[in-house]
Amino acid sequence: MGTHFDHDRATAFLDEMRTILNHGMTATMIGIGHRVGLFDAMARLDGRTAPSTEIADVAGLDERYVREWLDAMTVGRIVAYDPKTDGYRLPPEHAAFTTRASGIANMASYAQYISLCAAVEDELVECFRHGGGVPYDSFDRFHAVMAESSGQRFEALLIDTILPLVPGVVELLEHGVSVADVGCGRGHAVNLMARAFPRSTFVGIDFSDAALEAGRAEATEWGLTNASFLAADAAELGDDHHHHDDHHDDQHGQRYDFITTFDAVHDQAHPKRMVDGIFRSLAPGGHWLCADIRASSHVGENLDHPMGAFMYGVSCQHCMTVSLAYDGEGLGAMWGVHRAKELFTSAGFTDIAVHSLQFDPSNNYYVCRKP
Ligand SMILES: C[S@@+](CC[C@H](N)C(=O)[O-])C[C@H]1O[C@@H](n2cnc3c(N)ncnc32)[C@H](O)[C@@H]1O
Repeated sequence: MGTHFDHDRATAFLDEMRTILNHGMTATMIGIGHRVGLFDAMARLDGRTAPSTEIADVAGLDERYVREWLDAMTVGRIVAYDPKTDGYRLPPEHAAFTTRASGIANMASYAQYISLCAAVEDELVECFRHGGGVPYDSFDRFHAVMAESSGQRFEALLIDTILPLVPGVVELLEHGVSVADVGCGRGHAVNLMARAFPRSTFVGIDFSDAALEAGRAEATEWGLTNASFLAADAAELGDDHHHHDDHHDDQHGQRYDFITTFDAVHDQAHPKRMVDGIFRSLAPGGHWLCADIRASSHVGENLDHPMGAFMYGVSCQHCMTVSLAYDGEGLGAMWGVHRAKELFTSAGFTDIAVHSLQFDPSNNYYVCRKP
């Protein structure tokens, strides 16, 4: 039985492998099209069929490259081709998921994660052989790509949909409280909250100076006086030597009334230390809002996950390896709801609600209250 070879199954698998290779290349071409603004340019033609010369012109790009890209998009069934006029068209139904104007629905920006991961492949192959990890610094475009994809989500959902998941927090923020966003990256969430709630103060914490600089620049551009950015290791949160501002940092480090983390636990080197620190830093009765990847902790339950293969791939090539690079736990992006709840409970959170949002299928929103 073990040696039985099912020829139909083999043929079907060969087809599947070809599809995978085609889709893989299509995905990287979609990422490039997004970066150089080709989908946006085609959408400006309002669904009209146009020759490659015109599309290149509208996009301000080299025609030969644009034509090859259009042909790749044509056989990838992203763009419609008209052989009579030798013209190309982006159907509005496809523009709805590929242009910057499509905001949170823009799937093309996610394609960039594939080339982001591919760019560190040599280092990753060495890690497969010898262990260890690829550090953040090896990923040239990580913060740019991350900020773009999370930014789409923050713009659409943060203030009106995500924050209200936390009981009473909008009222507190309007009244004026102290808030930290840990692992804030380029800090767009911090600045959006600071703009919406001028009576509260917000600090974005991250260990990437380059990412924090982008957050500070945006805060300055927006004229915000209640947003600041602090370079610190999240694993040392709530430790005494981390006192940095002049309010709330008295009572045993309980200086924040509200803490947020957006996809910033699973890739930590020391997630347990971070979550313990968050618990310590919260005032009693305060909430921690934690967005992290929505999945089961058991691979067998993730087979029908709509982005399962994508997420395990990004995890292996980014989230897990950056953690292992600092001798970390390497939880991986798909560590799942069961292990998340276990970790949060072990830190002392007794009251943990798990929410999911219709327009953000990739994340769970954990609302954890400190007793
Ligand atoms: C997946 S990104 C999320 C960034 C941001 N919250 C967002 O949604 O765009 C994780 C962030 O955690 C930061 N980070 C990872 N380990 C850290 C640590 N030990 N201390 C502080 N920041 C850390 C990274 O620099 C990165 O900006």
